[in-house]
Amino acid sequence: MNKEFEKRRRLLTKLIGKDGIAVIPTSDTRVRSRDTDYPYRPGSDFYYFTGFSEPNAVMILAPGREDGAFVLCLRQKNPLTEIWDGHMEGLNGVKKNFGADQSFKIEDLETTLSSLFMGRQKVFFTLGQDEVLDKVLMKSFNSVRAGQRRGGVVPSEIQALEPLIHEMRLIKSKHEIALMRKSANISVDAHKRVFKNCKPGVFEYQIEADIIHEFGKNGSVPAYTSIVASGENACTLHYISNREEMKAGQLLLTDAGSEYEMYAADITRTIPVSGTYSKEQKEIYELVLEVQKTAIENVKPGQTFEGLQSGAIKGLTQGLKKLGLLKGQIDQLIKSEAYKDFYMHGIGHWLGMDVHDVGSYMDEKGKSKKFQPGMVLTIEPGIYISKKNRNVPLEYRGIGIRIEDDVLVTKRGCEVLTKALPKEIDEIESIMAIN
Ligand code: GLY
Ligand code: MN
Ligand code: MN
Repeated sequence: MNKEFEKRRRLLTKLIGKDGIAVIPTSDTRVRSRDTDYPYRPGSDFYYFTGFSEPNAVMILAPGREDGAFVLCLRQKNPLTEIWDGHMEGLNGVKKNFGADQSFKIEDLETTLSSLFMGRQKVFFTLGQDEVLDKVLMKSFNSVRAGQRRGGVVPSEIQALEPLIHEMRLIKSKHEIALMRKSANISVDAHKRVFKNCKPGVFEYQIEADIIHEFGKNGSVPAYTSIVASGENACTLHYISNREEMKAGQLLLTDAGSEYEMYAADITRTIPVSGTYSKEQKEIYELVLEVQKTAIENVKPGQTFEGLQSGAIKGLTQGLKKLGLLKGQIDQLIKSEAYKDFYMHGIGHWLGMDVHDVGSYMDEKGKSKKFQPGMVLTIEPGIYISKKNRNVPLEYRGIGIRIEDDVLVTKRGCEVLTKALPKEIDEIESIMAIN
């Protein structure tokens, strides 16, 4: 695994050039309440290049140094801290186990940066993420520049690093794809557990507990707070309170994905609480499923999110018109965005270490970015009919349906990483009939 991180650092070295220097901090610990922290998760960018998951660390990449390019500033080993919080790699550990060429105490970050900035032309660093670090970096930057009178090259600019890193992260390596496959499989199993345990009288939080159980049993954590939304709760796009009891006749929309070894999955299924879909639920479900399957069929190199979204808008508008929920000319309904009463989000997003993963959605010309092999994305159309929508028959009101899968772009088309999870109506109804 060290080799994979090394390869990424080599690529970044090329991108910043031999006169550049890159500074990448990890994320902070966060207090939950008083002296209790949230579980720690390293910063994705930092981890992507280091594989190191202790807090309070900064990676510096300074190409062409005699002492080596890969420098880590981190916490010193502290036996007392280790008694409470466990093993710390310390300054020697990161050289031995993580391939760092040199390591320094995090307390010495400012002086370390100052000495490493000497002789460099450009500092690659994303300002505005951490006030304390911004101040430290600017102090080093300014002190080195103030010393320019003594001669030598000093950096003249700070350039945002994120765009470079995020374009790298957009294309997944074989190793990353393997981890994403695993995360997808764990999430598929969690949703299968939902199919099994979904019944009238069960509370949404109990379904959430099932999901967390399946994730935890497989060494993963939720990549985001699961949305377990019964009935009209499904029309609240980011419903996460998950407090209500499920009732016969309702649908249950579950949007849940695991994070395995730092890689996310993101799946949504919408199933009938009492095992069978009503006529109206079935009509809406079939429409969303049709549009989702068409979008997936169209995922291939050269395709774009914009292309998929306009296809989905057309399909959904046509379908809603056929059902009598929208009235008028298709072109006019699309132009006036009438579909937004029912479908008000995008068709999908990049997926990777973050659930809404990094990487630009636009190319250099400001056009929707073309898909390439190795990109992973979600396809997730939905229809959400507000309880308050008086323009539709009563039977349709409060129905919220989304179907979401994770898709890897391949050379010739795509592979659905989450295809093992049923989504056809007859499949779902027959699984639930056994409950
Ligand atoms: N789970 C968040 C999303 O589907 O984008
Ligand atoms: Mn999603
Ligand atoms: Mn989702």
